[in-house]
Amino acid sequence: MSNFPRDAVRALPKAELHVHLEGTVDATTLLTLAERHGVKPPADDVAGIDQWYKFDDFPMFLERYFAVLGLLREPEDFAFVAERYMTTAHDQGVVHLEFYVSATGHILENQKKWAPIHDGIVEGCNRAAAATGMSWGLIPDISPHLGSEACIRAMDEVFAHDLSHVLAVGMGGPADNWWTQDFSPIYAKARSLGLAGVAHAGEHGGADEVRFALEQFGAERIQHGIGAMQDPAVVELLVNSGVACDVCPGSNLALKAVPDAASHPLPAMLDAGMTVTLGSDDPPMFQTNLLDEYERAWDWCELDLEGVSRLAQNSLDAALVV
Ligand code: ADE
Ligand code: ZN
Repeated sequence: MSNFPRDAVRALPKAELHVHLEGTVDATTLLTLAERHGVKPPADDVAGIDQWYKFDDFPMFLERYFAVLGLLREPEDFAFVAERYMTTAHDQGVVHLEFYVSATGHILENQKKWAPIHDGIVEGCNRAAAATGMSWGLIPDISPHLGSEACIRAMDEVFAHDLSHVLAVGMGGPADNWWTQDFSPIYAKARSLGLAGVAHAGEHGGADEVRFALEQFGAERIQHGIGAMQDPAVVELLVNSGVACDVCPGSNLALKAVPDAASHPLPAMLDAGMTVTLGSDDPPMFQTNLLDEYERAWDWCELDLEGVSRLAQNSLDAALVV
């Protein structure tokens, strides 16, 4: 049994910097959305959906994640999901939250308009912020398997709408060939509009992905980044730049980015002096939540309260501010 001090960790003010809005759709919410839109759900009850949220590998996860995107249709769907998750996060001591939103997935795969999606999310976040006092921002992201040209077009639609709640552009789910295509113009345009750039890299891939995101996209935070540990030069880049890796240990286990807990490089990342924050990624899909992630770090890295406090402080320090 872990001696994890859950209540003390809950009491630490924290930011959650790596969570996908669509990945917060739990089984009950999924069933509600399916019924609302007259769509046959992938299973008939909560237990069935929870089972559907078990993945053999990353492609199987992405396929199901994209199916969930298809159930989010109306602005109120987005508002409901955003408000619900922010409230859940607040109960775990989160004071600032940054939502990744799979913008190109909605626009390109589901032929939706960005403006109502955005406005629905803003409505939900504002409702939760009014009730909790939390701060928040959005990170619309690129799904590189949809191709760079299409993503450039879709992100232009994002850039043309209200950017006052948008903190950065991101890149999720790097497919095998993401660096053979040129997504740099999207990051350059974001920067010209005063936005930051972040990217998933080194999740299933290696250190070269992380280097590419840092050097070609100017990434100001890396999501996961565990593959960086394969190359001491990339570790050094991260340590010297102070660029944080938003690590999600439960996600890495669920998607088999590492074979088991003992193989996870989180302890080595902390030992190397890298700046690490903890995130839950897609919590109900991985049967986790943010405090569970702190518990994993506690157990795997043999942390004390000072150690977990440092991770919480890292998250506040690495937050992007509107
Ligand atoms: N989008 C949602 N979850 C993701 C993950 N774990 N990796 C990459 N892209 C994602
Ligand atoms: Zn992620």
